[in-house]
Amino acid sequence: MNSTNLDDILEPFDRLIQINIQDETVLVPENNYLLRCLQFLKLEAISMGDFCWNGNCAKCQVWVITDNGEKPVLSCRTKVQEGMRISRMSDTLTTIFVKPT
Ligand code: FES
Repeated sequence: MNSTNLDDILEPFDRLIQINIQDETVLVPENNYLLRCLQFLKLEAISMGDFCWNGNCAKCQVWVITDNGEKPVLSCRTKVQEGMRISRMSDTLTTIFVKPT
């Protein structure tokens, strides 16, 4: 069985940047699509997840807080930005990122 190697899946980056996911601040690689950044954080779960990676399934949808309110985006089609704030996630991503209570 092949394991997923982050060097093979991430775009080149020089540093980690801060984003906020549902009130938790995390560090992710700049210059990458948001779904890749989520994979960086949860490698096994995202790698094994049922994602199309090409904008068709919407299972990667997240809601980003903008100056004009929440905006839904597909994380496989959205580049990460420093200070990005994610307020909500799809059910698929919530299942992966939910914290045990
Ligand atoms: S992973 Fe399917 S639309 Fe993004």
